Amino acid sequence: MEPIRIDVATPSRAYALMLGDGVLDRLPRLLSDLQLPEQRFIVSSPLVWRLHGRRLARIAGAVEPILVPDGERFKQLQTVSRVYDALISANADRASTLITFGGGVIGDMAGFAAATYLRGIPLVHVPTTLLAQVDSSIGGKVGVNHALGKNLIGAFYQPHAVVIDPTVLTTLPRREFRAGLYEVIKYGMTSSPALFDRLARERTAIFGKDPGVLTAVIAESCRIKAAVVTADEKETGPRRVLNFGHTAGHALEAVTKYRRYRHGEAVAYGMLVAAQLASGRGALADRDRKALADLISSLGPLPAIADVSKGDVLDAMKHDKKMVAGRLHFVLPTAIGATTIVDDVTEKEMRAALGRVGFKK
Ligand SMILES: NC(=O)c1ccc[n+]([C@@H]2O[C@H](COP(=O)([O-])OP(=O)(O)OC[C@H]3O[C@@H](n4cnc5c(N)ncnc54)[C@H](O)[C@@H]3O)[C@@H](O)[C@H]2O)c1
Ligand SMILES: [Zn+2]
Repeated sequence: MEPIRIDVATPSRAYALMLGDGVLDRLPRLLSDLQLPEQRFIVSSPLVWRLHGRRLARIAGAVEPILVPDGERFKQLQTVSRVYDALISANADRASTLITFGGGVIGDMAGFAAATYLRGIPLVHVPTTLLAQVDSSIGGKVGVNHALGKNLIGAFYQPHAVVIDPTVLTTLPRREFRAGLYEVIKYGMTSSPALFDRLARERTAIFGKDPGVLTAVIAESCRIKAAVVTADEKETGPRRVLNFGHTAGHALEAVTKYRRYRHGEAVAYGMLVAAQLASGRGALADRDRKALADLISSLGPLPAIADVSKGDVLDAMKHDKKMVAGRLHFVLPTAIGATTIVDDVTEKEMRAALGRVGFKK
């Protein structure tokens, strides 16, 4: 089957996402078609490399992969330093291509290394988690966490290509798969009622990783992200919509020290908080709020929040990057597939919404 091609055209770079079962086997061809430099470096994690590394063995010119750990805890400058060390000792120059092969943590870290090594070398993402395939590999956000906050150090650095092969997801643990699906719900809720309905209707086929259905869901998600990023590379306008669920979500990740929830799980809670806020203001019909809650719970259990205090979450939100001139910009859903951005959410409203979602007093 011919791969699906989705174009991303940002002011800093235009590139394509190539998506399809088995597209990984075309990677060598793709790299030479793009005329990317011949000296290639692959950054991956030990686990991903053990599971799928042989599929990249055919990349001509690739040396030993650079393997670094990929938990959220390791998403920090020290790990990026190990990538620099490996590049320097291999004499990587500007005529080198860096290929990331892993989930969002590998993509963000190695992407940041590519953006900064020699002030930037060509980058290709080959994402291996659902979250990375539908979200983090597209749009050029790269970076790492700081002890005081998530993704505080980073850059916008667009890749030269993104190669998405859903067959690598067969080894993905169910919880990681669900974590990616919450981001797909985000696309449905902000931008596509059709995608939202599809998730509800074809849940079994999606979890069964039915190739046709899963590829279609990934493609639709990628199209939405590609369109948003094309319209607003640096997140000054429309791209903010994709922060739906992320204000409370990031706060929840921070107060639990990035240990309890997968990123997508925290976003699932964040979407529930935003929906409660919206329905509390009469901006979202209760029927739509309930449809979102039902879809989220139909995917399976989320880790508990009953012992997480509202006050802690509120404090963490105040450190959010989405603060502009001291005001917190909040994406509220107004229907399935539609949102509005507000900056006048009061602490009282926020407490009420957090309470209704089930956070501790
Ligand atoms: N750059 C962006 O625009 C953007 C967007 C969303 C999220 N993110 C970032 O992405 C990160 C989360 O990414 P993630 O959810 O992919 O987590 P991750 O990279 O930590 O991967 C999750 C786990 O899955 C394993 N794994 C990866 N591929 C696998 C496979 N095919 N089979 C089996 N196991 C596999 C990894 O080893 C890891 O243990 C967060 O740090 C988040 O901030 C970035
Ligand atoms: Zn996210």
